[in-house]
Amino acid sequence: MVCIRKATVDDLLAMQECNLFCLPENYQMKYYIYHILSWPQLLYVAEDYNGKIVGYVLAKMEEESTECHGHITSLAVLRTHRKLGIATKLMTAAQNAMEQVYGSEYVSLHVRKSNKAAFNLYTGTLGYQINDMEAKYYADGEDAYDMRKQLKGKKQHHHHGHHHHHHGGGCCSADVKSDEKHGSAEAKTE
Ligand SMILES: CC(C)(COP(=O)(O)OP(=O)(O)OC[C@H]1O[C@@H](n2cnc3c(N)ncnc32)[C@H](O)[C@@H]1OP(=O)(O)O)[C@@H](O)C(=O)NCCC(=O)NCCS
Repeated sequence: MVCIRKATVDDLLAMQECNLFCLPENYQMKYYIYHILSWPQLLYVAEDYNGKIVGYVLAKMEEESTECHGHITSLAVLRTHRKLGIATKLMTAAQNAMEQVYGSEYVSLHVRKSNKAAFNLYTGTLGYQINDMEAKYYADGEDAYDMRKQLKGKKQHHHHGHHHHHHGGGCCSADVKSDEKHGSAEAKTE
């Protein structure tokens, strides 16, 4: 039995390890920490009956663009646990949280042109469409498909022209917490 649950800080090392096993795009621990501090509802893990992390999804909200949207930073499932529907469940959990917590209107991601398994998962199972092609997107020169899936966006948003709000409570923020008044919502580091 594998269970899908929200990730905690204690899962980050295992997520990083799973990423190193599965993908050539790797990240420093501070990037995982940045994700979980900024969007704690958007990281999920798949845990087997021994408590081993066998898959994860790392996702974020894009706060720079005019349209509020989620972005899948990274997704992987260990080879031993593939084709069991785990990636589908991880993706669905992250997409639902983007929509319900942040009112995301769509979700975007990049995938290597040659990655048939992921491409089939996104287009076939999950209903993503190709939005664009980004030449030489990856460090080794491979092209990426920029893919998108429309979400319902249950929250009501008010976009007035082009001015951007970067304070907490903007379109990509979760419901305003009282501690935001003390500036702790400004977690952007890049
Ligand atoms: C891509 C990946 C996350 C899929 O994980 P998974 O848990 O095996 O995926 P699922 O079991 O949910 O598969 C759902 C659908 O994806 C497609 N799919 C998954 N693996 C596939 C494969 N090897 N070949 C073709 N299609 C595949 C199928 O359409 C499948 O539906 P089906 O089982 O009804 O045929 C996994 O292969 C992986 O970790 N790969 C390495 C890392 C990676 O590429 N991550 C994505 C980077 S963008």
